[in-house]
Amino acid sequence: MKLWKEAAGLGCKMEGVRWAFGCGPWRPRCSEWLLAARCVQDEERERIGRFIFAKDAKAAMSGRLMIRKLIAEKMKIPWNEIQLKRTIKGKPFLANPVLNIIPNLNFNISHQGDYTVLAAEPILQVGVDIMKTDFPGSTSVAEFFRIMKRQFTDHEWNTIHTAGDEWEKLDIFYRYWALKESFIKAVGIGVGFDLQRIEFHVSPLHLQEGHVHKETIMFLDGEEEKTWAFEETMLDDRHHVAVALGKQDTIGKYPGEVQENINEEPSQFILLTYQDLTSSAITMAPEDPMYWRNFEAKEEKPSRQRKMPV
Ligand code: COA
Ligand code: MG
Repeated sequence: MKLWKEAAGLGCKMEGVRWAFGCGPWRPRCSEWLLAARCVQDEERERIGRFIFAKDAKAAMSGRLMIRKLIAEKMKIPWNEIQLKRTIKGKPFLANPVLNIIPNLNFNISHQGDYTVLAAEPILQVGVDIMKTDFPGSTSVAEFFRIMKRQFTDHEWNTIHTAGDEWEKLDIFYRYWALKESFIKAVGIGVGFDLQRIEFHVSPLHLQEGHVHKETIMFLDGEEEKTWAFEETMLDDRHHVAVALGKQDTIGKYPGEVQENINEEPSQFILLTYQDLTSSAITMAPEDPMYWRNFEAKEEKPSRQRKMPV
């Protein structure tokens, strides 16, 4: 990956970045939460403060810290000068002029279950999604699948239904889910896309924990999409992560390098600590003790957890 390497003169030797943080088990101390709050933009601090449940606030906060860490460390933009904006559909992007260091920097985050994850690439378009396998909270598996019928194609349902017992079916269901979302998130379209247009042919059928698989292929409107690749990782025995890598937005910009990047060996996720998240941070706002009181008063999650990821 030449562009990261070009940035090596600035101390950056990384290739694609894959980070994960255990936001579920994280029980922030007062000092940790207040510091985190001072290190994100005002509108994000306010948004995070409005979450009803602590689990959502922690997920969103860790995602923002991850994005800023990425940009501070890889682009060498001081943390407090980083300007993040969102597209009309909500996808965060870097608004600072980047002076051609990594002109097509792409990043995306996802939070669900016990983790927040980030994937970043110097050239390729990237989307990431994480899904935790779980039983639906308020309905049977059969009914849950019936409700979700339109989100998957006949081929995909066939693979789900022949996967084995209920848990195995759910497991592959959530794997497909992460794959579809990773693509939707890479292109940034959000809700409203007809998910029947994309069909995944998964391979291998069973993912090995701790290994990054890159064999699954996608069909778009019935045609195999050779310009997209999908990395799949099980962070543990329940959390599926899919990273979509594409060149849609890069055609003509980096001849030669794009396909080379798509074919590149996949990267492993690195598990970060809270200290890692804040190690490059520069505060941007004064300490606000009320922000901790607000957080401390939140329940961790709804008492009867709604399990359906919609
Ligand atoms: N494109 C890409 N990334 C986006 C985005 C968009 N349009 N909008 C927001 N994001 C980023 C944000 O960083 C967001 O986190 P933040 O708000 O804390 O900063 C993060 O993605 C959320 O990702 P994730 O945790 O995976 O949430 P989600 O899966 O619930 O939502 C969206 C994904 C945001 C794209 C959602 O709005 C959506 O449209 N989902 C498609 C719904 C669907 O039909 N799914 C069926 C799949 S089978
Ligand atoms: Mg998601």
